[in-house]
Formats: sequence, C-alpha cells, structure tokens
Amino acid sequence: MILPVYIYGQPVLRKVAEDITPDYPNLKQLIENMFETMDRADGCGLAAPQIGLPIRVVVIDLDVMSDDFPEYKGYRKAFINPHIIETNDETDSQEEGCLSLPGIHEPVKRPTKIHVKYLDADLKEHDEWVEGFEARCMQHEFDHLEGKMFIDHLSALRKQMIKGKLNNMLKGNVRCSYKVKTVK
Ligand code: NI
Repeated sequence: MILPVYIYGQPVLRKVAEDITPDYPNLKQLIENMFETMDRADGCGLAAPQIGLPIRVVVIDLDVMSDDFPEYKGYRKAFINPHIIETNDETDSQEEGCLSLPGIHEPVKRPTKIHVKYLDADLKEHDEWVEGFEARCMQHEFDHLEGKMFIDHLSALRKQMIKGKLNNMLKGNVRCSYKVKTVK
C-alpha cells in the first residue's frame, strides 16, 4: 500500500523516534508499505516518521544507483532500531534531497564512515562500519529518527536561501508527483 509522505512542518518529523519490540504489529507489512511508498516517489530511502510513525524503522534502496556503483546491485534493506555508535573525523560534502522536502537539493557535509548497530528485516543483529554512499544515506535516514532533517546541517546563508520554499510547504503549497500530507 502506498502511503502519503509527511512534508516539512509535520510535528512527527521533529520527534525522536522510539525503538520497537520484535512483536510490533504487522512489521513485515509496514516494511513492504514503506518500500512501495519510497519506490512510487522515486526515493532511495524512507524513514517511518515520514509516513507519520515515530518509530525506528528505515528502508534504503541503493540498487537504483547500481549503474554507477555496481557494489550496490540488489541493495534493498530494512533497518530496525538503527543507532549510530560513532563516526570517523573525515567528512565530505554531497548534494542531498528528501521526500519530505520536495524541490530542495543542497550539499550536506557528513562523516565518511559510521559505526552502526541495527536489526535487519529478519531481526538479525548487525554491528558494522559502513562508508561511501551507503554511510551518507544511512546518516540522512537515521537523522529522521532523531527528529532531524538534512536542512538542519546547512549554513545560515543556505537556510535563508531556501526559506521561501519551506514557507510554501508550511502553507501546503507542494508540487510533487507523489501523495503527500502537509500541515495545511
Ligand atoms: Ni529524508
């Protein structure tokens, strides 16, 4: 089932999301719905707060990049209760976008490597260091679970420059090809 994507201004996007227990109702169905919603919107990641749920569940699809990055062939993963334990000191900057911020694309500086712990869709525990685009994508999605969005990482000047677009979102003026839920 395709769900509406919650847009900037929705309070759930600013909440710290909670870990879930393995018996969370209809978890498999939820993950399937999140993949479907992300695919429909041509996204490469989606966090549960973006469909209105303040819980720590994320889906990421890097297979869409596999033409340029063959190592991501078949990469479609769900992350349950993910937590970033530590990061390295090296950073790089790359353009990001977000389904909850349609029409905004800005370079974001982030650590290049992260140490993460999470459960996969089969509730198997993982504890690993990841790098590259995978690390960037995880940081973007896991930020959503802390009530953060990529625009929080921008300089005051860049924030000023996107203010008009953000105000439009708050007024419910959003143009995109997928179903959304704005505050107004
Ligand atoms: Ni996002």
